[in-house]
Amino acid sequence: MHKISEPLATRHSQILGVGDYRPSRIVPNLEIVDLIDSSDEWIRERSGIESRRYASADESVVDMSVAAGQKALTAAGITAAQLSAVIVATVTYPFQTPSAATDVTLRLGNPNAAAFDISAACAGFCYGVGMASDMVRTHSAEYVLLIGVEKLSDFTDPTDRGTAFIFADGAGAIVIGPSDRPKIAPMIWGSDATAREAIVMQPSWLELRNPDGLANSGNIGWPDIKMQGQTVFRWAVYQMAPIGLKAIEAAGITVDQLDVFIPHQANIRIIDAMAKAMKLPEGITIARDVRVSGNTSAASIPLAMAALYDSGEVKSGQLALLIGFGAGLVYAAQVVELP
Ligand code: COA
Repeated sequence: MHKISEPLATRHSQILGVGDYRPSRIVPNLEIVDLIDSSDEWIRERSGIESRRYASADESVVDMSVAAGQKALTAAGITAAQLSAVIVATVTYPFQTPSAATDVTLRLGNPNAAAFDISAACAGFCYGVGMASDMVRTHSAEYVLLIGVEKLSDFTDPTDRGTAFIFADGAGAIVIGPSDRPKIAPMIWGSDATAREAIVMQPSWLELRNPDGLANSGNIGWPDIKMQGQTVFRWAVYQMAPIGLKAIEAAGITVDQLDVFIPHQANIRIIDAMAKAMKLPEGITIARDVRVSGNTSAASIPLAMAALYDSGEVKSGQLALLIGFGAGLVYAAQVVELP
């Protein structure tokens, strides 16, 4: 019997460049409040959100991905032709197949890279970091473009008081490639699937095709996100801090050695509560991009990372804890060295 030959020894991986794309249309709270009987003050106090961006009708998930991806490639000093794989994390690409990633790699000018999408909601980007890192480490890929992108304005009911002010649009991207030393620590990931009904996008396409057999009451016009806000809030605040601490431990560092915290940008109160629960050191840089970007699900961590570079708050070589969590309920976290 033949045996598969010894695989190449695993190597290390790193993030090589970051890119973002923010739609030009800024939507302040005052533009949202009338339809949900709310106020600028209430939204700021409960979520920290001051404004968000909405893509225009002709601006697609793929358009935003390509723009962010090109910026990340330039920052990494890599051409699209050098990519072995393109991964798109999203829950708002409006086609089940073929994937958004195939269109992205085609439009970037590399129609032969491996390409697929990840459906892990607000944890999708961190899932992707772990997967891309392992692909590079085990020689399944040389360079991987990972994009987190959402056009949540297409799937949010503007009259839903629990979601209309939260969700928004944008794209962020990174390139992951080989490294001479470890710069992406192991991913801590998992789910709490018993709570999978806490955030849903309903109704299903089958129900839309056959409204007579509708399982869900209410909306039969279009799939929108529905959320049990308090359930999600409590889960994030109490369950995610221990996951962040496990990721720090997996990186072989202590909390005091962390420079930057870039959590999923769900809500400023969740971010602050997690930082407190993990006892992050004074003076650590904490991403609070949610204030001007809203919650962009899979895009929120790379968008927040790019914003920290733009504001000069982070520099190359710093250690950042990333943590994504959301619909599923699913989560993933890892420590990375910033490029
Ligand atoms: N504007 C004004 N008032 C609102 C409102 C809105 N948009 N939505 C609810 N309210 C009112 C309610 O009517 C209620 O009033 P009452 O006390 O007089 O009955 C009060 O505010 C509290 O409502 P509640 O639904 O308990 O709000 P909350 O304190 O849980 O805050 C969220 C709502 C959505 C901000 C909060 O639950 C949250 O941040 N959840 C996590 C959401 C999230 O980040 N999801 C993404 C995870 S990936």
